[in-house]
Amino acid sequence: MTKPKLLVTGGTGYVGSFTVRALQDKYEILIVDNLLYGHEDAVPNIKVVKLDLSNGPRLKELMAEYKPEAVVHFAAYIQAGESVTNPTKYFVNNVSGSLNLLNAMVEAGVKKMVFSSSAAVYGNPENLPIKENQTKNPINPYGDSKLMIEMMLKRYHMAYGLNYVALRYFNACGAELDGSFGEDHRPETHIIPLLIRAYLKGEEFIIFGNDYKTKDGTCVRDYVHVLDLADVHKAALTALFDGLTTAEFNCGSGVGFSNLEIVKSLEAVTGQPAVYKFGSRRPGDPDKLVAGVDKIKDQLGWQAKYSDIKTITSSAFKWHKNHPLGYNK
Ligand SMILES: NC(=O)c1ccc[n+]([C@@H]2O[C@H](COP(=O)([O-])OP(=O)(O)OC[C@H]3O[C@@H](n4cnc5c(N)ncnc54)[C@H](O)[C@@H]3O)[C@@H](O)[C@H]2O)c1
Repeated sequence: MTKPKLLVTGGTGYVGSFTVRALQDKYEILIVDNLLYGHEDAVPNIKVVKLDLSNGPRLKELMAEYKPEAVVHFAAYIQAGESVTNPTKYFVNNVSGSLNLLNAMVEAGVKKMVFSSSAAVYGNPENLPIKENQTKNPINPYGDSKLMIEMMLKRYHMAYGLNYVALRYFNACGAELDGSFGEDHRPETHIIPLLIRAYLKGEEFIIFGNDYKTKDGTCVRDYVHVLDLADVHKAALTALFDGLTTAEFNCGSGVGFSNLEIVKSLEAVTGQPAVYKFGSRRPGDPDKLVAGVDKIKDQLGWQAKYSDIKTITSSAFKWHKNHPLGYNK
């Protein structure tokens, strides 16, 4: 039986690579990636075309030649802090790159997209847990870029019948349970890999602030295991192939962990104390961000399975311990 074809942008990156490996049994996959931040070693046996989404004409040719049934769109620059000082980079790459992609889809008659959106579309929420219909008020250009793409999707659906699922991930984390594949962002800005790397090098780790309004004073975030994110893409694609037209879903565990709980969890996994101290707060960090997960459970039947703190820290620890240089071994 022939498999339905998917074109996957950013498929050599962290979340993309876990997802394509999970989808490859059911779908034929072609990855489009500029390889600036991704790793081909993360997607063995999957075809990768090195192409930047800024190249609209080549993208149109490729879309017309390959003619996928759906596009899964991960490609983006992802550093919220950098987006504040260099918004141009984020609007050009994320927004204009996505526009090229959407136009190539419309021209080739490709009608389905799963889009990697972000909890950053909400900004500092008024209520917790954060529900999908809550006010969208991004606090940085990265979040703006994701919200703008969601707006484009809505309009392209209305005008051209392009159907989509926007998945608003909370904090992606974790690795394959055997530690064979994992997170390798360069530069790394996420707490779990930074903590584990500091631990493995015997360096002191600094927790930003311990005077937040949370149970232990450190920030609380919703962490979602990358294996769960891979799984949610399967569910979203199945729903689109079954006739879903448009939807936005939070992808989180619905449970928040504090920074200090993550450190304690690493200590429990390794059996050794971690060296850490409390530093000052980072400007703009809300106390607590936790996803409302009822909608995705009700409508997609999806629920996180691997997003408990122990599975997250133990899988990530295995990956970093076995691959101190990331995908360069
Ligand atoms: N990692 C998280 O915690 C998180 C949270 C919320 C949302 N997201 C979203 O999920 C997606 C994937 O995140 P990730 O952590 O895997 O990031 P990543 O940087 O590991 O992967 C992104 C991939 O896209 C590629 N890319 C970027 N711009 C491109 C362009 N113009 N043309 C072609 N390829 C391009 C990069 O080279 C990289 O391989 C992103 O859209 C991100 O905004 C991630």
